[in-house]
Amino acid sequence: MKRDNFGSRMGTLAAAAGSAIGLGNIWKFPYITGENGGAAFILVYLGCIILVGLPVMLAEFSLGRKTQKNAVGAFKELAPKKPWYLAGMLSVSTAFIILSFYAMIAGWVFSYIVRAATGQLNSVAPEKLNDYFGSVVSNGALPVFFTFLVIAVTALIVIFGVKNGIEKCSKILMPVLLMILVALMIRSVTLDGASKGLEFLFKPDFSHLTKKGILEALGHSFYSLSLGMGIIMTYGSYVNKEENLLSLAVQVTVADTLIALMAGVVIFPAVFAYGLKPDQGAGLIFVTLPAVFKSMPFGVFFETLFFLLIGIAAITSTISLMEVVVACVTEQFKINRKKATLFVALALFALSIPSTLSFGPWANVKVFGKTFFDLFDFLTSNIFLPVGGILVTVFAAWVWGVKNVVKEVTSDGLHEFKAKGLFAIGVKFVAPIGIGVIFINSIGVMKKLQAMGLSSTGAFGLILGVFVLISFIIWRIKCRTYRIEE
Ligand code: PFF
Repeated sequence: MKRDNFGSRMGTLAAAAGSAIGLGNIWKFPYITGENGGAAFILVYLGCIILVGLPVMLAEFSLGRKTQKNAVGAFKELAPKKPWYLAGMLSVSTAFIILSFYAMIAGWVFSYIVRAATGQLNSVAPEKLNDYFGSVVSNGALPVFFTFLVIAVTALIVIFGVKNGIEKCSKILMPVLLMILVALMIRSVTLDGASKGLEFLFKPDFSHLTKKGILEALGHSFYSLSLGMGIIMTYGSYVNKEENLLSLAVQVTVADTLIALMAGVVIFPAVFAYGLKPDQGAGLIFVTLPAVFKSMPFGVFFETLFFLLIGIAAITSTISLMEVVVACVTEQFKINRKKATLFVALALFALSIPSTLSFGPWANVKVFGKTFFDLFDFLTSNIFLPVGGILVTVFAAWVWGVKNVVKEVTSDGLHEFKAKGLFAIGVKFVAPIGIGVIFINSIGVMKKLQAMGLSSTGAFGLILGVFVLISFIIWRIKCRTYRIEE
């Protein structure tokens, strides 16, 4: 079967940036920034992007392009007859499960586009917006319909393939997204009282920054760049062999970060200008912002534009999540793209139902004490994603080897890569340790160790020790497997 590829440099960038830029940038980044005190959090986030995000992105891009295979096939090719392909399977499963509830949130956004455009949202009294949001997400059938709609639209794009579906669509949607964002930014910063919001966003106040905030920045940098679930690897497999992967990865990272900051510039000046609070958590875009638009001249227009912006960002991400699964099913089971996409979409319809209903009729159905949505979210965000991230990083850095990654990144010496040394430190040590800390914290090990009487430094030292031991064991296995003398 002939493999589809990206057709142009711009198209590759649009698709990869489209994957990275999503609900994470426009919904989550602003609200976690709001909860963690603004600019100080942003500085930490930037550090995480450079030290952890960028090295892992390079590793994923190079694994994909080297093998020209899907996330499972790539591991099978580089480590034949070894269980590393399980890491690929974990990534593909993570993408599949995340997509089932990411589509649900995108569905809420789609329903808000309709509600904004028809003026319905604007007619809700500000103090009723919270209840209104509750009634939207808990109304059993309608959220299911919008979730299905998102999955169907995504499948319709993916079915046309990499060049004619994903690339073409991203090349249209990304510039539209940028134009809407700029228009909204201009609207927001020209409001009376906007400067307080800009100050909140750009003047660091470290007194609000907590350890939890730092971990959140690290976790979000990973999620925002679409790392750890085979996406960048799969997209990398469609990148032209002569393409400079370093500049591609840097451009995707810069675009992702800029868009997140621009979303902050849209949201906070407007929130402050209308005297509302920046720390309303997940409700920031569904509850706080509609109150802002209500008081604004031409509010219905700007509100519709705003939800359209989020809808576009979400769709370019859902297509990347679906592509990981479709590429894997197509290549590993040798079936054509059309059948694979239909099959994946149907399976997603089914899996999305429990999460979607867990905000309404199934709110009391609990598994291990959690609703379906909480369970899927916990499993993927706190366990699968960090474990997948560590495995892919360890594989690239320690098993396949930094030398091979660098060779692929530079197209065998065709391009320059000056910061090789820094990259090696990032991908070998900083990234796995960083992701390891997120993982250990998210499954509550730190808390348990502290409850056993260890100080937080002691607990951290113990965990680091275990990590070094595991690294040593992996290194020994690697030496034996590849008969390399280190
Ligand atoms: N990076 C996207 C965002 O920030 O919303 C979301 C995402 C897409 C996460 C794809 C993970 C992923 F694999």
